[in-house]
Amino acid sequence: MQTHQYDVVIVGAGGAGMRAALESSGQVRTAVISKLYPTRSHTGAAQGGMCAALANVEEDNWEWHTFDTVKGGDYLVDQDAAEVMAKEAIEAVLDLERMGLPFNRTPEGKIDQRRFGGHTRNHGEAAVRRACYAADRTGHMILQTLYQNCIKQDVEFFNEFYVLDLIVDHDLSAGHVPDGETVNATGVVAYDLATGEIHIFQAKAIIFATGGAGKIFKTTSNAHTLTGDGMALAFRRGLPLEDMEFFQFHPTGLAGLGILLSEAARGEGGILRNGEGERFMERYAPTIKDLAPRDIVARSMANEVREGRGAGPNKDYVLLDLTHLEPAHIDAKLPDITEFARTYLGIEPYTEPIPVYPTAHYAMGGIPTNIVGEVLRNDTDIVNGLYAAGEVACVSVHGSNRLGTNSLLDINVFGKRAGRAAAAYAKTAEFRELPENAADRTIAQLEEMRERPDGERVSDVRTALQVTMDANAQVFRTHESLVQATDDIRALQARFKNVSVQDKGRMFNTDLLEALELGFLLDIAETVVLGALNRKESRGGHFREDFPDRDDANYMRHTMAYRRPLDGSEEATALAEASQGDITPENAFTHVSDFENYKVVLGSKPVVMTRYEPMERKY
Ligand code: FUM
Repeated sequence: MQTHQYDVVIVGAGGAGMRAALESSGQVRTAVISKLYPTRSHTGAAQGGMCAALANVEEDNWEWHTFDTVKGGDYLVDQDAAEVMAKEAIEAVLDLERMGLPFNRTPEGKIDQRRFGGHTRNHGEAAVRRACYAADRTGHMILQTLYQNCIKQDVEFFNEFYVLDLIVDHDLSAGHVPDGETVNATGVVAYDLATGEIHIFQAKAIIFATGGAGKIFKTTSNAHTLTGDGMALAFRRGLPLEDMEFFQFHPTGLAGLGILLSEAARGEGGILRNGEGERFMERYAPTIKDLAPRDIVARSMANEVREGRGAGPNKDYVLLDLTHLEPAHIDAKLPDITEFARTYLGIEPYTEPIPVYPTAHYAMGGIPTNIVGEVLRNDTDIVNGLYAAGEVACVSVHGSNRLGTNSLLDINVFGKRAGRAAAAYAKTAEFRELPENAADRTIAQLEEMRERPDGERVSDVRTALQVTMDANAQVFRTHESLVQATDDIRALQARFKNVSVQDKGRMFNTDLLEALELGFLLDIAETVVLGALNRKESRGGHFREDFPDRDDANYMRHTMAYRRPLDGSEEATALAEASQGDITPENAFTHVSDFENYKVVLGSKPVVMTRYEPMERKY
């Protein structure tokens, strides 16, 4: 076992992690730990753009951007955070330009901008060109640019190291923190995939930037590696997860596969048509039509299929029509996604419409943070030395539905903020002593899993999880479907207890890696369905057919899911008591797992409102 000491340790080498590293590494000793080689991080799969009210091609301003973000998130957005993001967006784009990112240009040489769903001029008048882009590979360009700049700045990377535990001086999952005591993050435990060796990283400040959890679903745009690791690690240490029920389904996944086809296709003039050739979005969002926010477009598509107006032999998808666009325009602006259609479906987008259907894309929820990236351990208190940024975090700038291109923006704005804040904290803080047995839990978990005799296959349990999530917790949800998903997850947690790995070796044991990831997926899926079951309203990406309206009186609040011991937790009851609305000790959700004895308690957190009163959301 090796031990390392850094002022700041960043877990995750996607956009948020590397943007944070560029801030902190110039100031204090910084290490980035990633389970992947950095340029394979999922930021590289983001396509259409990063928005900022540069007003390079038409009138725009950051206040309109803030409003669109708040309205797009169905008013569950913390408005102070949205304001920060929209204001700092402009500098964030210019930062990347200075780092060398090859943005598409206007004829005059300015950064070009394109339309994207939900981004409007003057509070909804018409779509506005706000997304800065590099063809349909904007995330790829951002990732490469950040990595090159990290190399230039001598950032230290630990690649293919898998972080398996967060070390804190109070394990909140074990119960109550005595009044007046602080909670401090002191390090992480990582597993070197190449050797199987355990490494402890002691740090004054830790930033989680591990991305999302799309692999809880079967049909997803997410890479195989998006397994909710950071969220689950925090949750297992008793830290809350916020608004997990809000998962975004991107409207245009390649039908049957889920591979992302950028919304930029519609920003560049593409049109969605049903099996009858009708431009159906005119009925659902008469003003901005195909450029309505994703929750509305995805539901409209699913509705067309449900009502028998789908396309194809089984009428189970709709069509993305680019055939009226000039081939030269398609080649210049949408080269990758049109190639995906050719490669994976054998469709020629110049002449044929592309079969598409919603695909699980983005977790709006995550580890709660404030606007400088400090992690919250309840409504108000932070964990000293712990930060989170990007999809793993919930600031919350996306509320119940994220606007396209606000994600690449989020990682840059809040990655930078978290990096700065962590470095500033590390400059004043001392290293805290690590417990002697800091790695014991991780070692025991690994050995136990490796030694387990023949049992369940990881892939069987994972597939069963993904199937139930697709069937029961996707675009449309009901009490019955969510109870089914909850029951299925409980059964799968019991089966997880018996999963065994075939590879017993130590070097590059991806079998073991996938088993560990599956444990995280199950934890995350549980918080998603419990949050969804509890939220008896429809808002943004969470649509309950049995409660189709938004209910501000009872649910204008963030959900906070806490993992607590099954027995004797006064804190769990206190949390439930302190929560508002209909979450009370009597009906707070508790869940008993056969795998470990814990329960999940749902509390809530107020939504921060500044200038925008909630209104009916129409486009
Ligand atoms: O459609 C897209 O290009 C995806 C962008 C995003 O999720 O922000």
